[in-house]
Amino acid sequence: PPLSQIFNSFDFEYVARHTMSPNAWAYYSSGSDDEITVRENHRAFHKIWFRPRVLVDVKNVDISTTMLGTKSSVPFYITATALGKLGHPEGEVVLTRGADKMDVIQMIPTLASCSFDEIVDAATDKQTQWMQLYVNMDREVTKKIVQHAEKRGVKGLFITVDAPQLGRREKDMRTKFGDPGAQVQQSDDSVDRSQGAARAISSFIDPSLSWKDIPWFQSITKMPIILKGVQCAEDALKAVEYKVDGILLSNHGGRQLEFARPSIEVLVEVMAALRAKGWQDYIEVYIDGGIRRATDVIKALCLGAKGVGIGRPFLYAMSTYGEDGVCHLIQLLKDEMEMNMRLIGATKIEDLNPSMVDLKSIFTH
Ligand code: FNR
Repeated sequence: PPLSQIFNSFDFEYVARHTMSPNAWAYYSSGSDDEITVRENHRAFHKIWFRPRVLVDVKNVDISTTMLGTKSSVPFYITATALGKLGHPEGEVVLTRGADKMDVIQMIPTLASCSFDEIVDAATDKQTQWMQLYVNMDREVTKKIVQHAEKRGVKGLFITVDAPQLGRREKDMRTKFGDPGAQVQQSDDSVDRSQGAARAISSFIDPSLSWKDIPWFQSITKMPIILKGVQCAEDALKAVEYKVDGILLSNHGGRQLEFARPSIEVLVEVMAALRAKGWQDYIEVYIDGGIRRATDVIKALCLGAKGVGIGRPFLYAMSTYGEDGVCHLIQLLKDEMEMNMRLIGATKIEDLNPSMVDLKSIFTH
């Protein structure tokens, strides 16, 4: 269908499911085991209702914000997802171009199909990019990657902490990862591809990574450091004690620990713990997982998130309609966002607060 017939992120998913190669669809859509966390990530948003304010002058609505010190036209960003060339021959740079046109931040994955420099080169000067980091067993390799990213102007380092070993994604394993478009820079051709794409490319990740390594990261870079994959209040408080700049509450889009809780529920727990200690301003809190509608974004912001990441919808938009699809998805989300801000009685991001949502049903199933 023409893009004019695509009205929301689910429409992109539908077209992707019916037009992408089976390999690419399997790798992008899959989650761990029975994909319960994948499903609940989005469904958890259905348990949160709005408490709108009326008779607020909402003629002018501004949805721009600041994340990690940089301005963004929207409080969501394109999150890091590996293997862009599975879905589009040009890979991640397609996301870069769309993000640039629409003034949206992009997080660059360690396991991109394009090289890191290609993705940075595809950006314009005004564009903000962050980097997702898988930590290598050889710390000298990691140090080089981090310092190179900083030199190239990357504005935030998201260290993935939920993947000491890659999860078991059976849909992906069944297709056996034969697609040559799926090569990544770091991959080693001697790896066993029979276990699917995820396993094949992850053998370098260091499972011994621990809290003790955090000061080392702080010593090698001045970029803000954000832990990607925190999932409970205890670790959120620890993150503040270790003086990291942010946490990203995430279960890796349901691709790692099956039965990890939906990120939006974790957000409620984490913000309560931070507020109880008066620590909520010491750290920026982000979430990702299952965000498909602007109402999902608004709910997360009401509950205290500084911003949210969106993964699969951008992969599907890129794979089906290329750069135009990426721009169209961003425009749809912007339009949804402005309308729903108006309807809940908010004119700017700072207006969003916990009294605008009703959590009565979130923990009762
Ligand atoms: C991911 N994600 C991910 N995260 C990460 O830290 N490093 C990575 O290499 C990848 N790769 C990756 C590939 C694909 C195909 C997907 C779908 C996801 C996780 C990603 O950053 C993010 O946490 C989720 O995608 C968010 O969930 P949604 O928006 O996809 O539901």
